[in-house]
Amino acid sequence: MNSESMRIRPFQDNDKTAVADLWREVFPNNPPWNIPEKDIERKLKIQPEMFLVAETDSRVIGTAMAGFDGHRGWVYYVAVSPEHRRKGVGEALMKQVESELIKKGCTKLNLQVRSSNTGVVEFYKKLGYNIEDHISMGKHLSDS
Ligand SMILES: CC(C)(COP(=O)(O)OP(=O)(O)OC[C@H]1O[C@@H](n2cnc3c(N)ncnc32)[C@H](O)[C@@H]1OP(=O)(O)O)[C@@H](O)C(=O)NCCC(=O)NCCS
Repeated sequence: MNSESMRIRPFQDNDKTAVADLWREVFPNNPPWNIPEKDIERKLKIQPEMFLVAETDSRVIGTAMAGFDGHRGWVYYVAVSPEHRRKGVGEALMKQVESELIKKGCTKLNLQVRSSNTGVVEFYKKLGYNIEDHISMGKHLSDS
């Protein structure tokens, strides 16, 4: 792959299987409530234009699912298929997310990294992200 053959674009309906397969490969330890097909369906109802894929030769090789809540931007499911890593795809996805958020008036992008996945921290640091002194909390509002 060269950078000219890779492009970042919004998710399209016919990407669903490829994206779900990519996430199952890249996030094998995701908790059972993160069901790719359901997460995709929910995202398509809210700011679908912020759900990006990277493709080369008509194949999905990366994803980033972002959103702006009116105060902060968030990004999830930043993933690049193992055979296409360290070629700038992840960085290109994050730059596009940042650019889309800036267009919406967002001034800060937050993200969470699972404590079991600290290897990815160097990637985000390289892109200018800092570890912040927060305690992450969450509550499930429904079973699905
Ligand atoms: C994190 C991930 C998206 C990075 O994608 P990528 O396309 O390989 O990243 P890039 O090629 O754009 O990397 C840009 C820079 O980040 C840094 N970087 C990327 N991966 C790194 C790693 N594993 N270790 C250390 N630094 C890394 C490097 O400085 C790299 O530049 P270089 O290759 O010129 O040295 C990819 O490794 C991945 O999908 N990981 C599994 C899923 C995951 O953990 N996602 C994050 C959820 S929070």
